[in-house]
Amino acid sequence: MKFSLFGDQLTCNAGILSLMDDLGSAKAAGGENMIMMGGGNPGVVPEFQDIMRDRLRNICDDRSEFHRLIGAYDPPQGEAGFVSSLAKLLKNEFGWQIGPENICLTNGSQTAFFMLFNLFGGRFEDGTVKKICLPLAPEYIGYADLGLENDFFVSTRPRIEYLEDNQFKYHIDFDELEIGPDIGAICVSRPTNPTGNVVTDDELEQLNCLAKKHNIPLIVDNAYGVPFPAMVYEDANPSWNENMVVCFSLSKLGLPAVRTGIIVARPEITRALASINAIVSLSPGSFGAVLSQEMVESGEIIEISKKVIKPFYKEKMERACEIVKREFAGVPCRIHKPEGAMFLWFWFEGMPISSLELYQRLKKRGVLVVSGHYFFPGLPAGWRHQDECIRVTYSQNDDDVARGLAIIAEEVKKAYQDIDVEA
Ligand SMILES: Cc1ncc(COP(=O)(O)O)c(C=O)c1O
Repeated sequence: MKFSLFGDQLTCNAGILSLMDDLGSAKAAGGENMIMMGGGNPGVVPEFQDIMRDRLRNICDDRSEFHRLIGAYDPPQGEAGFVSSLAKLLKNEFGWQIGPENICLTNGSQTAFFMLFNLFGGRFEDGTVKKICLPLAPEYIGYADLGLENDFFVSTRPRIEYLEDNQFKYHIDFDELEIGPDIGAICVSRPTNPTGNVVTDDELEQLNCLAKKHNIPLIVDNAYGVPFPAMVYEDANPSWNENMVVCFSLSKLGLPAVRTGIIVARPEITRALASINAIVSLSPGSFGAVLSQEMVESGEIIEISKKVIKPFYKEKMERACEIVKREFAGVPCRIHKPEGAMFLWFWFEGMPISSLELYQRLKKRGVLVVSGHYFFPGLPAGWRHQDECIRVTYSQNDDDVARGLAIIAEEVKKAYQDIDVEA
């Protein structure tokens, strides 16, 4: 069957598809014998699940709340009660000058990025074609295939800061970052998936100034950020202004299945998103909004994030780092300073096999990771570093993480040794 160009674009061999397929096939097989360190599934945080279970029971026991949950299409902007409570919370807590008109919900924030990127990038009425600038590579695999034009992203190699304990940190290289008339928006994930990097407040401010100067929006992907789910282990402040589009998600709090994305932007943009919602899906789902409205109204969402979610992941990260120290002793490897999110980003400098080959070897050994080469959308090929990294998720149970890391260390050692033998 012949598909249109749009069809071809969305059915190509996308990295995100292979990652979600890996997740899906392992789930279908009961997850047995596979250590899942590849996907972006959040961990099971029992305290959070208890709160949600109680809330769901209360909703089910209340006829009108139950109807709100399942019985009516919401407006295309999203569930009005939730939108209004969230606007109040962000205004009261952080002084953001916003009202309900500044918020639009989407079916997961992934959908929001598809809409936003194609609103600001692509072909314009006057014939110009604009791209989305990702100022820091590596960046989220899920962006790579969202553009409806070819060569949709442009990115810049990062500056690498070498740190103690075999760690390193990527920084935006502002000397190399060029914002020309062909750029329609700047986007950065903070914390960054895949590296756990947290762009500093200062770097964010510089991006903000650049975006303002060029009259384009700065999109901040806050899927793991502050104030919720707050998977940030360094100092970072939430910020928003009229020129920024801040994208939140309920997924990493522990609700990936409800598919709720939240966009905070100026009304011109939220109205455009609502219009796309109406055309593409009539309205965003109500489930996440109704389920979480109480904790948004009370502000509990911020407390839970700070006191339950953040410590849960921070402790997992620290345990994972201890294991890395032990298992990778003597292996030429570095990890990115884990400042947020739920990933360790390994860099095997000079590794004789590519990260894709390592991924395949690990899959055979029952460990799923993600090859790092997918995470450089918009960066021209030719930088060896792109094939020397893997992303490893530490959100799942600790025993699996420990076993998985030990197997990764073994395979990496083997890869370096094979070459020694051949030589
Ligand atoms: C950085 C980042 N942005 C956005 C998303 C999309 O999340 P969702 O569509 O579940 O809100 C993810 C998911 O893993 C992510 O890691």
